[in-house]
Amino acid sequence: MDKIIIEGGVRLVGEVTVSGAKNAVLPLMAASLLVDDWNTITNVPGLQDIETFKKLLAHLGSDVEAGPDAGSLRIRTRDVTEPVAPYELVKTMRAAILVLGPLVGRFKRARVSLPGGCAIGARPINLHIDGLRRMGAEISIDRGYVNVSAPRLRGAKILMETSTVTGTENLMLAATQAEGVTVLENAALEPEVVCLARVLREMGAVIRGEGTDTITIEGGAPLRPVSVAVIPDRIEAGTFMVAAAMTRGNVLIKECPLAQLDALAIKLRATGASVTAEDSGARVIGDWPIGSVDVKTLAYPGFPTDMQAQIMAMMTVSNGLSVITETVFENRFMHVGELRRMGADISVDGRCAVVRGVRRLSGAPLMATDLRASASLVLAGLVADGTTEVSRIYHLDRGYDHIESKLRALGADIKRVKA
Ligand code: EPU
Repeated sequence: MDKIIIEGGVRLVGEVTVSGAKNAVLPLMAASLLVDDWNTITNVPGLQDIETFKKLLAHLGSDVEAGPDAGSLRIRTRDVTEPVAPYELVKTMRAAILVLGPLVGRFKRARVSLPGGCAIGARPINLHIDGLRRMGAEISIDRGYVNVSAPRLRGAKILMETSTVTGTENLMLAATQAEGVTVLENAALEPEVVCLARVLREMGAVIRGEGTDTITIEGGAPLRPVSVAVIPDRIEAGTFMVAAAMTRGNVLIKECPLAQLDALAIKLRATGASVTAEDSGARVIGDWPIGSVDVKTLAYPGFPTDMQAQIMAMMTVSNGLSVITETVFENRFMHVGELRRMGADISVDGRCAVVRGVRRLSGAPLMATDLRASASLVLAGLVADGTTEVSRIYHLDRGYDHIESKLRALGADIKRVKA
């Protein structure tokens, strides 16, 4: 298993380019299940989760191959006959649940392993299931699988009691194949949902309201294959913004979707950092000392839960007290124990963490626990005294495209070694 080794104390300076968004590509790959011919997706990042999703599509009977350009992917799902997503693939990546909606839409039936809980929380899929039931599907759970039968999928008005990103995406995907109109209320507003809606529209689907909390889908329009580019990854961009700010760096983050990162930019400016839009992206210049800020995670456009661990790493070296409240997932503080091992002063009470900034962190051997937690440990290592070793970095590889080479290009003393 690989490790990342960081010698802390370097200011990050230079330019970095953001890759395509993991959480936008996966639903686009799932959308390929709705058409017979080749779809092309470009700006696909090099991530383990994409590899897992490719395996899942291949398992279903799809042809998946590299496209003509670097970072492009071609998918043809013509030969999919058995709409079954097995436990072995779903257990390694919860987002595999995204095949449920399109499989039910196209084949009128599906058998998909339930993803189960994961490190950051229970993460149920009851809202995906309730929505499909509202559309007329019959659903049973047996031996850890959800079985769906929907000989006639009908449009319905579906109010989701919690805003759910993949839930909204799954129901949108299924609704394109339903008879009549589906109205999703309290739909997720995330840019990745908007990206999927636009791509589905390009495929021929009739969809309105993406980016608002009411999305309307008129089912039954014939769909055609498309060639689409993935939007930049706002969470990768945000991670580099924090890295620049906390190392007192000066970094131009190219392709940074700054307009989607208002909640983060506001907080970074409040710490004393400068965040400005430039033609090709965003420039972040860090200041010292780092002012402390309170953060509460919320659905978009609130502060992203996927940036909570990274901002916490920054607050460990702030000049004051910071209260960080996680409202989206119930168990997303696993980085706390590892940050404490570096000398961070953090106490946790339920969904609140109180971080008292310390003058310095000290490098330590650390264990990554989930994707964004891993990123926070790398950030902490960048400012810590001495050597930080982060192991179990397969978590990091699930969602960050060559993070160590991108950081190295900004001057960081970071390398990947075989353990
Ligand atoms: N929820 C339910 N029932 C459901 C679905 C969700 O109670 O049927 C709850 C969840 O337990 C959670 C809240 O609703 O408390 C929001 O969860 P959501 O469904 O929006 O999360 P998700 O779709 O499973 C996506 C991203 C996550 C990101 C969250 C929140 C993808 C593939 N994953 O997950 O990304 O944290 O939205 O923004 O889009 C990551 O990239 O590191 C990551 C975890």
